[in-house]
Amino acid sequence: MSGWKISLCAPTPLTRSTNQRNSMQNRKQQSRGELTESGDTAPQEFRKQLHELADWIADFRENIEQLRVAPNDQPGAIRAQLPDRGPDDGESFEKILGDVNQLIVPGMVHWSHPMFLGYFGWTTTDPGILGEIVTAPLNVNAMTWRTCPAATELETVIIDWLRQWVGLSDEFGGVVYDTASVGIMHALAVAREEAAPATRKLGLTGRDLPRFRIYTSDQAHSSAEKAAIALGIGEENVVRISSDNEFRMDINSLGNKISRDRQNGLQPMAVVATVGTTSTASVDPVPQIASVCRENKMWLHIDGAYGAGFAILPESKSLTSGWSEADSIVVNPHKTLFVPLDFSVLYVRNLERLRRVFTLVPEYLRGDTVEAEKNYMDYGIQLGRRFRALKAWVVWRSLGRAGIVARLREQIRLANLLASWIKEDDRFELSAPVNMGVVCFRFVAGIGDAVPGLPTAVTADQMDKLNSEIVERINASGRVYFTQTKLRGGTVMRIGFGNVLTTEQHLRKAWEIIQETANDL
Ligand SMILES: Cc1ncc(COP(=O)(O)O)c(C=O)c1O
Repeated sequence: MSGWKISLCAPTPLTRSTNQRNSMQNRKQQSRGELTESGDTAPQEFRKQLHELADWIADFRENIEQLRVAPNDQPGAIRAQLPDRGPDDGESFEKILGDVNQLIVPGMVHWSHPMFLGYFGWTTTDPGILGEIVTAPLNVNAMTWRTCPAATELETVIIDWLRQWVGLSDEFGGVVYDTASVGIMHALAVAREEAAPATRKLGLTGRDLPRFRIYTSDQAHSSAEKAAIALGIGEENVVRISSDNEFRMDINSLGNKISRDRQNGLQPMAVVATVGTTSTASVDPVPQIASVCRENKMWLHIDGAYGAGFAILPESKSLTSGWSEADSIVVNPHKTLFVPLDFSVLYVRNLERLRRVFTLVPEYLRGDTVEAEKNYMDYGIQLGRRFRALKAWVVWRSLGRAGIVARLREQIRLANLLASWIKEDDRFELSAPVNMGVVCFRFVAGIGDAVPGLPTAVTADQMDKLNSEIVERINASGRVYFTQTKLRGGTVMRIGFGNVLTTEQHLRKAWEIIQETANDL
């Protein structure tokens, strides 16, 4: 870690002597394994630790640019510095926080660093940190309304704010899960129940059931297969449909695959359309896919994990076309709408369909479920649930709709700015249309273009290696972090915006580093 240290805040003079006495006593008790009076840290000591932590967090945010974006360690380097066995005696918070500085912070990829341009740039925000901190002491289990009315009711309200912001009709109700992968699994469990009634009770085996099929594009996320694995549909029954030259699902190919499967006695069950694919953020033709689903009585799930959040922009309303025809849609505010990981919302048209598949009230919770309010444990496999809505509430109230819109527009502006620089440099080319905050590009210059006298012909394989090498070298330098992906079999570089700390200046620096590295290679 380069030159950055936490500062420990000094207690105020008035309380210093009491604090010091308490903390020394508390530490002695902890290290002897004895309980303090309350079974927890003594109040004065805890207050002091919180102040230290507040300073630590503020310093971390303020000085993050001094850190490497990513470590360049070999696997196991961090583990080697950690004890193999848990401590027998308690240790002081100062020591633990010191180890966070020495061992953990340098061993991290700093997703909140302004030069982190990888994946979907899930951002850290100051309100997000405050939201997490407020949630920590409350630490409730939001499984039923009775176990925490505020958590349940706030979740319902937050889900509805988001629904309105992205322009989803009020036929849709939602539930908060950790991730979109869990969301799609629940959505397809309902699709399965509707295609094969009583699966919830009887399972899939020993019954005269057809082989079910799920269709999604060759650009879609692997969470479709993961869901098929978990639901007993089978990974091979997820049929990948080819995409067009802008990486959108080819609708004719979808129709053909469904017809062929029907002729072969297989049963088409669901289509997963994507709004914002993982590699290029392309958007599938949802209205046409919806017609296919209607004709074939299939479930339509929209994976809007990344892209659906952009529907909050008035100028991006076209993203929502066809959504009213969907059965389910997943939106990840932890990707696009500034809520810290993890926070994903699954909407289902007529949410009761989801409840019917998952409601199960054990005797020991029956008394907790007499009220007519929602019990979110009924809407998925999870019983214990975090109070996730609180952090979203803090973030969305802090930014407001206007603040969210302004930040998303800035991401789009930066993505288009980078694209314009790429177009100006004829050694590089864009590999896909720029969608939302994602730019895919490729170094294409022949060797002789950069080094006169050498042959210009470079095989596709060599060019793939070169592009990959640019990304690897830069990431290993710790100055910028971004990723690579494959498009139509070729390796391309990919930058994803999302981090609120990334400015045009950072982007310019990153682009210079990419150009220099390509030159060096
Ligand atoms: C389009 C898309 N869908 C789903 C997912 C899975 O999201 P999660 O990590 O929330 O499960 C991703 C992850 O990046 C994604 O890009």
